[in-house]
Amino acid sequence: MRKPIIAANWKMNKAISESVDFVKDLKDLAMDIFNVEIVICPPFISLATVAEVLKDTNLKLGAQNMYWEKSGAFTGEISPVMLRDIGCHYVIVGHSERREYFKETDEDVHRKVKSAISFNLIPIMCLGEKLQERESGNTLDVVERQVKKGLDGLTKEEIKNLIIAYEPVWAIGTGKTASPSDANEVHKFIRSILKKLYDEEISSTIRIQYGGSVNPENIDGLMKEEEVDGVLVGGASLNINSFMKIIKGSGRPGPMKGGDQV
Ligand code: PGA
Repeated sequence: MRKPIIAANWKMNKAISESVDFVKDLKDLAMDIFNVEIVICPPFISLATVAEVLKDTNLKLGAQNMYWEKSGAFTGEISPVMLRDIGCHYVIVGHSERREYFKETDEDVHRKVKSAISFNLIPIMCLGEKLQERESGNTLDVVERQVKKGLDGLTKEEIKNLIIAYEPVWAIGTGKTASPSDANEVHKFIRSILKKLYDEEISSTIRIQYGGSVNPENIDGLMKEEEVDGVLVGGASLNINSFMKIIKGSGRPGPMKGGDQV
């Protein structure tokens, strides 16, 4: 069984002091939780201080974005080497807000995924269709294109720890969620693409999160679906009580695979 992974994407929220207060509380509250992998992705400015608090705990650190070059004249950007140095294990790549507001293309996402892996970071590669794409019946085509372009030319060995986050754009921050069974269908479809591109092993071991208006009320339904291996949470991860409820709603009984490699 794949180990569920719950990631908090704080986006452009929380100052350093607020981030630290949150993770100090979370560290205590989630101390005994080992059947779910928990990742906190604060803004860049808080990474170093949050890393200190998370040291030697069961909580992991992730960044919300990165540039693909190692170093150089790229004003305002952060490199994978810097993220590793600060203690990040994960990095969110290709979030729909990056694609939409900062014009990141599938090719950019691919460069970031490839670079993250080569510097020993695990990418959480986000993808998902927009409302008009869903309404015009193009969901699966869009998802297929994003998976194929994101992983273009990467080997089985390179992608074995990668996480995919299926986040329908129309569900992000809107209060609308894909129904658990709709999410499950798309996840299943993603596995079929992975099987074609790689093999059964990759298709059955890669963890696929759902994201988009996840909250304490809908977590149970989502996690009951076989192909949903956790969630990427925005708004509801900003509050410790709702985030804890989501974590507690995400556990699965039995031995689990994944997440022990970082
Ligand atoms: P949301 O955001 O939970 O606020 O919808 C999810 C995300 O953007 O990852």
